[in-house]
Amino acid sequence: MPIFLDSGNLKEIEKYLKMGIIRGVTTNPTILLKDGVTGGMKGVRARSIEIARLIAPLPLSVEVCTNDPLQMQSQAQELAAMGSNIIVKITIHGPNGELENMEVIHELEGHRNIRVNATAMMSAQQCFVAAMAGATYVSLFGGRVANMGYNPCEEITRLRSVLDKFNLKAKIIIGSTREVLNIIEWLDAGAHFVTVVPPLLEGMIIHPYTKDTVRQFLADAAKMETRLQAENIFTTEERNGNKEETAVATSKSKLVNQQQKI
Ligand code: E4P
Repeated sequence: MPIFLDSGNLKEIEKYLKMGIIRGVTTNPTILLKDGVTGGMKGVRARSIEIARLIAPLPLSVEVCTNDPLQMQSQAQELAAMGSNIIVKITIHGPNGELENMEVIHELEGHRNIRVNATAMMSAQQCFVAAMAGATYVSLFGGRVANMGYNPCEEITRLRSVLDKFNLKAKIIIGSTREVLNIIEWLDAGAHFVTVVPPLLEGMIIHPYTKDTVRQFLADAAKMETRLQAENIFTTEERNGNKEETAVATSKSKLVNQQQKI
């Protein structure tokens, strides 16, 4: 299942890792802050090392905490050196549209042998240029696209089509999941991966009607067990030649009553 977990919570990551349903983990500064990381880059490094070791060899995406081009490069090298499964997230541009981020993506992928996840993208065209710059992963924020009134599925389908057409190596990650339905619909539209927040992943698995069905199975299994006990008593008593007929009748009628109540 092409699913990444969008989380910095070690317990949550371990939980879904044990189930065998995640193929990597993505984080960003907002997620790490929510999941209790403090202490700036030092805290980011410490949590990232723990996650990277836990999930290796699956990939972990960690974002730089600066938009200064030189610092982005040095943080990226520092993060990538911490584990061979660490992918560095760089936003497509800065908060004021600074384009140096594209140079950083190209430098890291092309000359520093560091895998980059180009992130915070809202359109197929942004993802396409990041793929041209050499990014290994391109992250489109599906939920935020929908919040702006556009259909993320159309962007995903177009993006997949041009990546395939021009033989670009970038893999599409769709993040910013808001509803359980997003996962299947975005994969169906052409995403290589969807990164899912833990509550939605649980929502994919648990269904109220499945709960009812399992309850029915367990109740019937218990009834079968009671019947088996009754049959054992009947057989033993019959083998003993029904010496104590009154006691047998009492015990049989008790069991029949129990079965009827269940
Ligand atoms: C994933 O890589 C993204 O950082 C994340 O899904 C963004 O989600 P948000 O829009 O909920 O912040």
